[in-house]
Amino acid sequence: MLAREQVLEALQRIQEPGSGASLTELEFIRDIVVRDNQVSLTVVLVTDHEEVRSKLNYEIRGALTDAGASNIHIRFREASEHERAALAGEVADQNDPVLTKGHAAGMEGHELLDPQSGVRFIAIASGKGGVGKSTVTVNLAAALARNGKRVAVIDADIYGFSVPDMMGIEDNPVVEDGVIQPVERFGVKVMSMGFFVRENNPVIWRGPMLGRMLRQFFSDVEWGQPEYVLLDLPPGTGDIALDVHQMIPHSKEIIVTTPHATAAYVAARAGAMALQTNHEILGVVENMAYYQSPTGEKDYVFGRGGGALLAETLHAPLLAQIPLGAPDNHPSEPDFSPSVYKADTEHGQLYDQIAKHVIGFDENN
Ligand SMILES: Nc1ncnc2c1ncn2[C@@H]1O[C@H](COP(=O)(O)OP(=O)(O)OP(=O)(O)O)[C@@H](O)[C@H]1O
Ligand SMILES: [Mg+2]
Repeated sequence: MLAREQVLEALQRIQEPGSGASLTELEFIRDIVVRDNQVSLTVVLVTDHEEVRSKLNYEIRGALTDAGASNIHIRFREASEHERAALAGEVADQNDPVLTKGHAAGMEGHELLDPQSGVRFIAIASGKGGVGKSTVTVNLAAALARNGKRVAVIDADIYGFSVPDMMGIEDNPVVEDGVIQPVERFGVKVMSMGFFVRENNPVIWRGPMLGRMLRQFFSDVEWGQPEYVLLDLPPGTGDIALDVHQMIPHSKEIIVTTPHATAAYVAARAGAMALQTNHEILGVVENMAYYQSPTGEKDYVFGRGGGALLAETLHAPLLAQIPLGAPDNHPSEPDFSPSVYKADTEHGQLYDQIAKHVIGFDENN
């Protein structure tokens, strides 16, 4: 017969996927009921990712079966604020002490994060996925670089990193004297979780924690002295987006939306999060705004007005309305990229305008 203690022992090595901390030590395994060899329990989750659930489900079932359980019932529930705070404390303890003292003291060694460094952070956010954040990030970065700026991109989407592929990067970062050299493409220095994950395995299987990873991206990477650091955020207003907001208190934001009114409504939540964390909103980019036929007519396939509506709601300018259209790049070109539009294309010019707006904004502030 199985006892509660054996259940806890069996589950001890199972890690909270974000932080790697033990789920039982975090007390994230709750409501354990053991009857004969039947076990039911609740797992507290900080993220709502389906992959996380299925991975934990699989691991917990495996561990309990090995311990002799025959009938296993697992419930999942979202972490409360209090539980999230416990996790944050746990993670801080595990980290390098330099990194754990919070923004004021802990970031001293991090030139990039030091407000005195003069680096301008721009986070690219959206209310929902697939609206073009990463596309906007890589193209704005390339456009800023074409305007003579020193630019870096940090792909902060750990689960759904896409920047290396979108920019057509095939190289990996090189480590010199323990410092990671970012990969440079189109004059932009790039760092992404994608460089460290082989064969498109979901990151979740390797269990790195966003905060730790991102901080390493700041501290262990030889960035030089970028003028702009663009952060490609994961979609939505979840924990990761919030973490990034809090980690970089002086970041500015660009919110991306599609032209549909409901999309703009969802995007407004991302805007609200930016404002709550005191991030100034540089503006709104309406992506996939229309399809332009070869004869020049505009077809508003995804609706109309979402960008303007969002800009009005957020009291921020509408920076651009970018039409549908993939870059006309060919894989045989030496600087091929699937997602970066060339400078002399209509899209390239729209991004150039956004870049000039951003630069102008900074020069006037
Ligand atoms: N203006 C556009 N015209 C046509 N396709 C586009 C346009 N902008 C983006 N796309 C395509 O739409 C898809 C989603 O874009 P992207 O990956 O940039 O969005 P995202 O907001 O970063 O998504 P996620 O939330 O998954 O990170 C990609 O396949 C991209 O190539
Ligand atoms: Mg993306």
